[in-house]
Amino acid sequence: MDFALPEYTRFKDNKQLDHIPGKYGLPLIGDTFSFVINPYEVLHRNYQKYGPVFKASLTFQKFVVGLGPEYIQQLMLDSSQTFSARMGYDAPLGDFFAGGLLMRDFDEHKFHRRIMQTAFKIDAMRTYVDLMHPIIDREMTRWGKASEFQFYPNIKTLLLDIGAKVFLGLDMEGQETRALNQSFLDMNEGVLSLIRKDWPGLLYHKGMNGRRALEKFFFELVPQRRGQSGNDMATFFANETTEEGEYFSDKVVGEHLIFLLLAAHDTTTSALTMATYYLAHDQQWQNRLREEMQALGKPHLEYEDLAAVTDLDHCFKEALRMNPPVPMLMRRTVKEVELGGYKLQPHTMVQVSPLYTHRMEQWWTRPHEFDPDRFTREEHKQHSFLWAPFGGGAHKCIGLHFADMLFKATLARLLLRYRFKFAKSGQYPGRIQHFPFAKPTDNLPLVLEPLS
Ligand code: HEM
Repeated sequence: MDFALPEYTRFKDNKQLDHIPGKYGLPLIGDTFSFVINPYEVLHRNYQKYGPVFKASLTFQKFVVGLGPEYIQQLMLDSSQTFSARMGYDAPLGDFFAGGLLMRDFDEHKFHRRIMQTAFKIDAMRTYVDLMHPIIDREMTRWGKASEFQFYPNIKTLLLDIGAKVFLGLDMEGQETRALNQSFLDMNEGVLSLIRKDWPGLLYHKGMNGRRALEKFFFELVPQRRGQSGNDMATFFANETTEEGEYFSDKVVGEHLIFLLLAAHDTTTSALTMATYYLAHDQQWQNRLREEMQALGKPHLEYEDLAAVTDLDHCFKEALRMNPPVPMLMRRTVKEVELGGYKLQPHTMVQVSPLYTHRMEQWWTRPHEFDPDRFTREEHKQHSFLWAPFGGGAHKCIGLHFADMLFKATLARLLLRYRFKFAKSGQYPGRIQHFPFAKPTDNLPLVLEPLS
């Protein structure tokens, strides 16, 4: 089924925001640099000065920003189909992730989301966790032998290996997988490039070459997987059909796979890195989680165990509260709408912020402290969008259960195999890089003490 290019994609952003309080900061760049260095501070300063709704120039674009759970709710639930995710993310992601699920809106998005549904059903989840265990074990054995160990690059590699196996049915040993992973990494680098021209020598060009290599690979892989059985996502997607019983085209399935790799990888890598950082500091919590795992009496967490590991669950939630891997959710209006008492014209860029909402003092006790027990106290239940690391509504993260499982399976195994501590003094509180995804700037050097 073909959908026509929506009319609203042809318009430039509306920049007539004189009636909205706030200042853009420096010409052209606005507050981009201070925002990238400390996003919470910039948002907080604006909140105190102008209230929850203000205009700002962040990440080189002019936005209306709404801070608080009610604005996340308004944008995510979007019952009147006012907010376009496609146009919200067009500037940073449009060229690299065209055709991805988040880059489609409304009826078209609903139609496409079904391509992915089978791959995220419970039976599929059970098989994924079984595929993960041997890879986690192999890599963690390797980690224990390293003379100097940095958590971040190693968890990134582990998750790439798991992604190749679970998403694509490929083993990491293969040359092909290595080349594929490199294309993926190049593409992610390209997303961050400032000069967005596809000219040789530029980062953007390298990124687009990565995208072209991935397209070529997937457009060949998808037809090979048709009619095959397999437990990987590529095979599930390739065999999904429309209501008329027709396969989705190779291009459509390939584009969804490319976006999926992006959506899954750095987000979960960041969540695991930040959780490990807090747990290396808080040995009491580390021990408590280890005891919870030991009480299960098995080496690996299985799908059925997920409901039983409450402390681990609260730790996952708390890591995502403190540093949500998607700190800002972006949309562009397609029609006139009111936000916090201000009228917004069509084609206005709007951002709402899990990062800020997760740390608002009027909702959370000591919001800047790592305290997983706040989820036992159910602080997050005061508003349905107070804790929103996975967004909500039509675009709510389709991989949230997968992320939950991957996070817990990996951390559980780490806790059982090693006691982990900071390798150097002064690592806590350390400098945190917030963009493109949160991680300690020193890549989190750790000492891993084997547990018998
Ligand atoms: C901790 C890890 C993760 C976080 C915090 C996260 C967060 C999010 C958020 C906030 C959105 C919605 C963005 C918006 O509405 O503007 C989203 C969408 C999405 N995520 Fe995740 N994600 C994570 C892991 C994953 C994983 C593991 C997968 C796949 C296996 C995945 C696949 C997707 C897809 C395909 C979408 C687009 C959904 C749609 O447009 O309908 N994510 N994610």
